[in-house]
Amino acid sequence: MKLNVLTLPGDGIGIEVTTEAVKVLKHIAGLYGHELSLNEGLLGGIAIHKTGNPFPDETRELALHADATLMGAVGLPEFDNAPPDKRPERGLLGIRKTLEVYANLRPVRSYKALLDSSPLKNHLADGVDMIIVRELTGGLYYGTPRGISGSGAEERAVNSMVYTRPEIERVTHMAFQLARKRRKKVTSVDKSNVLENSQLWRRVVTEVAREYPDVTLDHLLVDNCAMQLVLNPKRFDVVLTENLFGDILSDEGAVLAGSIGMLPSASIGSQRPSGAWVGLYEPVHGSAPDIAGQNKANPLGAIGSVAAMLEYSFGLMEEANAVNRAMEEVLNSGRVTADLKPAGAPATTAEVGDAICATLVRPVTA
Ligand code: IPM
Ligand code: MG
Repeated sequence: MKLNVLTLPGDGIGIEVTTEAVKVLKHIAGLYGHELSLNEGLLGGIAIHKTGNPFPDETRELALHADATLMGAVGLPEFDNAPPDKRPERGLLGIRKTLEVYANLRPVRSYKALLDSSPLKNHLADGVDMIIVRELTGGLYYGTPRGISGSGAEERAVNSMVYTRPEIERVTHMAFQLARKRRKKVTSVDKSNVLENSQLWRRVVTEVAREYPDVTLDHLLVDNCAMQLVLNPKRFDVVLTENLFGDILSDEGAVLAGSIGMLPSASIGSQRPSGAWVGLYEPVHGSAPDIAGQNKANPLGAIGSVAAMLEYSFGLMEEANAVNRAMEEVLNSGRVTADLKPAGAPATTAEVGDAICATLVRPVTA
């Protein structure tokens, strides 16, 4: 198969974790005989430095022509006070919207080897296996009107939480289709006791659910959901929610797995005539400028994102499973970065990538 992939390493540790993810992608393509066509582009702070724009036109073109895009991370502290359209994060919002990748899938599962790294007691964390489906191209992140106006006592700021019925329907279908391949349970999260936006969300989700009688649906208010995630995380299978709630809950979910450095994510939207899903793959963690360039960031979120790319964009389940198994083996062997290793000598970012490649061998079939 031809794998047409764009990489956008971005800022901070994005660069070093993407290097390891690409190493693993090349290795697996070689093992299974896939033709890999790789392009690299600029996004985020590095793109502002080189072109003045966090999402340059050349990057837009490259992304529109790739089947899948692998992103590292964006964000640099020097832009903290920059105007909104000159911030690295704008680049990320721009590419998500351009590719119309409206469903962001963030799987959270516990690994036996990492139970002691979870802030939860082992019996609560052990066996957690959920996927957060976060709506990614609507809500407060994109709604208008928005902006800051006036001055002095008259200064005010506005953001708008906007969802249309079709936007809710399409992401709900995605969540229910995923649930069918899992434990068949969707929990929709909203704030319908206060927000009209959430009232529409709940009504539309309930209507769509009627098309999936084999899947159970329940609703949780977002504050309660934040609590249930630490009280009883095993109750969740597929968590469906809007953009900002999903952003917040997925960071909370991430630490259940031991470290935010572990979490991959897949954002998908439309399907190409070839059958490939246009997708944007990125670890959930940020650019962590405090540890950037030191070869100590955990690359497993980025490497897990490669597994997600193989699965969702290219339908290569065997290859995806091989990467996931290699990750588990490397975790069990203790060759992990400092975030997962409170005692003993940690592995470097590059050593973890090498260990995954060394573990990845094609199973011999008769
Ligand atoms: C995420 C990040 C982004 C978001 C930021 C960097 C814009 O926190 O992917 O979770 O809020 O979506
Ligand atoms: Mg976030």
